[in-house]
Amino acid sequence: MTKPTEVLILGGGIIGLACAWEAARRGFRTTVVEAGEFGGQASGAAAGLLAPYSENPESPDPFFQLCAESHSLYPAWVRELEELTGRSAELRHSGSLNVAFHEADFLSLRARLEWQSKYGAGFELLDAAELRRLEPALSERALGALYCSDESHVHAPQLVGVLEEACRRSGVRLVAHAGNVTLLKRAAGEGVIVESSFAGRWQADRVVVCTGAWSGFVQEWLPVHVPVHPIRGQICAYDVQGGHIRHMVFSSQAYWVGKNDGSLVCGASEDMAGFDRSVTEQGIGRLTRWSGSVYPFLQDKRPSRSWAGLRPATLDGWPLIGCIPEAPELIMAVGHYRNGILLSPATATLVGDLLQGKSGKFGNAFGIERFSPAGKRRGVG
Ligand code: GLY
Repeated sequence: MTKPTEVLILGGGIIGLACAWEAARRGFRTTVVEAGEFGGQASGAAAGLLAPYSENPESPDPFFQLCAESHSLYPAWVRELEELTGRSAELRHSGSLNVAFHEADFLSLRARLEWQSKYGAGFELLDAAELRRLEPALSERALGALYCSDESHVHAPQLVGVLEEACRRSGVRLVAHAGNVTLLKRAAGEGVIVESSFAGRWQADRVVVCTGAWSGFVQEWLPVHVPVHPIRGQICAYDVQGGHIRHMVFSSQAYWVGKNDGSLVCGASEDMAGFDRSVTEQGIGRLTRWSGSVYPFLQDKRPSRSWAGLRPATLDGWPLIGCIPEAPELIMAVGHYRNGILLSPATATLVGDLLQGKSGKFGNAFGIERFSPAGKRRGVG
């Protein structure tokens, strides 16, 4: 009998757990090693937007295609997770509104309507009266909106918990509080030995790196450039029991999304503060000013909670998903920036394919080669 392939996943955020569940379902013996708590970083801090259209206003490039593909996988993926665990990820098909506050905003909304409606979502350009019927709590300054019936959201921390439980039930070994990891040995065909500060060492045939903003450590292991850095997202939530907000609402400066527990989450700043996860008066103040201006009922209300997460950004804003050519037993699945929650099922599928030696449907569009001097650059970053 042949020995089952051992897969070691580094990082227990949503990407690591999604890849682990997929690997286990494809028959790999899978272990996830997490430095701290599962979902303790960006995944646990996220607003849970599943918004491939709102997050991609420019063009139907491969990144949009990946987001749209992942969004289409979501309902069945969540259903399977919920059936397996008996727990809810609070997937809500709320639809979204991209609101115009100035006549000039309609220019970009019309351009989006033009190309995005070819991709099948239920789009409609609304005037002020139609908008108010859908979302009565919005300010009268709102002139109209692009409505998309297809966008949705989940409760990100709950989804992480559901995935963790699904991994457990699928035989994945889960190791939390492992601290930093060091590569002890790597030899072609002989696999990899990795040691952690607090939880021992592991031997694996394949290693999948899912360590988000902390993925630069791979450069200490191998002569590769891993251009991933943290972008802080400060975010806050209001207690608005009573369901004032029906849809996800986006403006040019912030977004709002109502959760089942009666909170209205407002995000998010994009600031560079290294690995500092604290919130600032300036960052949260900007969100509260916008909240009061977009929703008059929030003008005198203070958020009940504020927090921050570190999004893992690459130089061009696209994720890094692929094998490292210099060390094909190492697969990268990092750099999901603003869309880690959305991109989890598609990333897990691509990683599952790579583990099985198949090339996924996006070819090398998200590979590390694009950052090497010899690689084809897309002229950004
Ligand atoms: N996905 C929304 C954000 O990163 O703020």
